[in-house]
Amino acid sequence: MLVVPTSKRFLKRSFDKTTYKFADKLELVVNDEFGIYVHIPFCRALCNFCPFYKEPYDFGKCSKYVDAIVSEIEKSSIEGKASWVYFGGGTPNMLTVHQLAKIKDAIQKKVKVDSIGIELLPDVLTPEYIRELRLAKFTKVSIGVESLNKEVLRGTGRMTPGRKEIANLVKEVKYRGLWVNLDFMIGLPGQDKKSFLDDIGAAMEMDPSQVTIYPFIEMGKVKTQDAMPDKDQYMAIEEASQILMKAGYARTGIWAFSKGNDVYDLLRDELANDCFGFGPGAFSICGQQKIVNPDLEVYLKDFKDGKSRGFVTDITEEINDWQKFARKLYDMDFTDTSKFVKEPKKVINLLKKSGFISKDGKLTDKGIIYAHDISKMIMESQPYPLRDTEKVENYEEYQKLKN
Ligand SMILES: C[S@@+](CC[C@H](N)C(=O)[O-])C[C@H]1O[C@@H](n2cnc3c(N)ncnc32)[C@H](O)[C@@H]1O
Ligand code: SF4
Repeated sequence: MLVVPTSKRFLKRSFDKTTYKFADKLELVVNDEFGIYVHIPFCRALCNFCPFYKEPYDFGKCSKYVDAIVSEIEKSSIEGKASWVYFGGGTPNMLTVHQLAKIKDAIQKKVKVDSIGIELLPDVLTPEYIRELRLAKFTKVSIGVESLNKEVLRGTGRMTPGRKEIANLVKEVKYRGLWVNLDFMIGLPGQDKKSFLDDIGAAMEMDPSQVTIYPFIEMGKVKTQDAMPDKDQYMAIEEASQILMKAGYARTGIWAFSKGNDVYDLLRDELANDCFGFGPGAFSICGQQKIVNPDLEVYLKDFKDGKSRGFVTDITEEINDWQKFARKLYDMDFTDTSKFVKEPKKVINLLKKSGFISKDGKLTDKGIIYAHDISKMIMESQPYPLRDTEKVENYEEYQKLKN
C-alpha cells in the first residue's frame, strides 16, 4: 500500500461524508479550552490568489456589520478564559481601530483574554493606525507580505509595497512594542525560487518575531497558473527553513518559524481545541458540532430579523480523529499516537513502516514533504458550505434568502 494515495483516499472519503444543513443555531457548550476567531470580510481590492470568504469594502455595510457582530458576541455562550483570539479576514484594517475596539470590548466583557492578534494588509496600513492598535491593546500583528517582488505582486491584483515600505512598517510595529509575524507565499504566478529566497533573506533583516510561509492553496475557483510545481514549492520552503533556523527561528509548525515562546498560528490553533468563530463565513467547532456562519448578506438580514442561523454539521469521531492527525502532522510530532483508532492509526503505522516517521516519533525528510502535501490537501478539500453548495442538504432555503 502506498502511503500518500492511501491517506489521501481515506481523508477524501471522510470529507465526502460531510453534509451541512442550514438551520437555527443551537447554543454551543463551552469547554475548558477554546479560542475565538473574528472574521472581518471586507477587502479594498480582491487578490486573485485568495480563496477565503471576503466582500468588497462598503462603508454602509461595514457599520451594519459591526453592530451585527457585537450582537452575535453578546448573545453567544462564551465564558471563562479564551486561549487565543485572532481578528482575521478579509482585511481587518479596513475597519477603523474604533470599530475594532468595539468588537474587542464585546469579547472582553464576556471572557478573559491574555493576548489579541490581528491580520493586517500592508497596502492600507499606516504608522498612525499601528499606534492606535497599540492604544486599543492589540498585542500581536500579522502582516500579509506574500512577496517583496513587485513583478510577482503586480500579477496578483495586489498593490506593491516594496522592501522599504514593509521594513518601515515592521520597524514601527516593533517600536510600538507589538509582536509581529510576516506572511509569505510560494507558488504565486511568475515567482521563482530565487525571488522567494531573496524575500526570506530580506525578511531576516527586518527581524520579525515570526515568519510564516504558505504554499499556494487551491480552493474552489482559485488555481495557480504558470506556478512552481507543488513539490518544488515544498522544497523551497525547506531551503527557507534552513535560512530561518540559522537566524535563530524555531520551527513551530510545518509552515511557521518563530523566535521566543509566542506563536501566531490560527491554522494550528484551530486544529487544537474548540473555536468560536464570529462574523460572516466564520466557523465554530465545539464538541460534536460545527457551525459555519452565512455570508454577509444573510448575516445582516438575520441580524435585522432577530434570527441566528448557520450551516450545521456533526463532527463524527472519524472527523475528530483526522483533525487530531492533521494537528500532529502540522506539528511534525507523532511521539504519542496511543489515542488514534481505525484509519488514522493504519496511516500512522504505514508512515512508520515506510520511513516517514522515525523511531522517536519525528518526521523524516520525506515525512516533512508528506506533511506539506497532506496539510495542503486538508485545507483544500474540507467542504465549506458557502463554496461547496452541493454539500448543503437544503441549500434552496438559504438561496431563497438571497433573492
Ligand atoms: C486571508 S489573508 C488576510 C490578511 C490580509 N487581507 C492580507 O492579505 O494581507 C491571510 C493570509 O492568507 C494567505 N493566503 C491567501 N491566499 C492564499 C492561498 N491561495 N494560498 C496560501 N495562502 C494564502 C496569505 O499569506 C495572507 O497573508
Ligand atoms: S489576500 Fe487579503 S487582501 Fe487579498 S483578497 Fe484575500 S483577504 Fe483580501
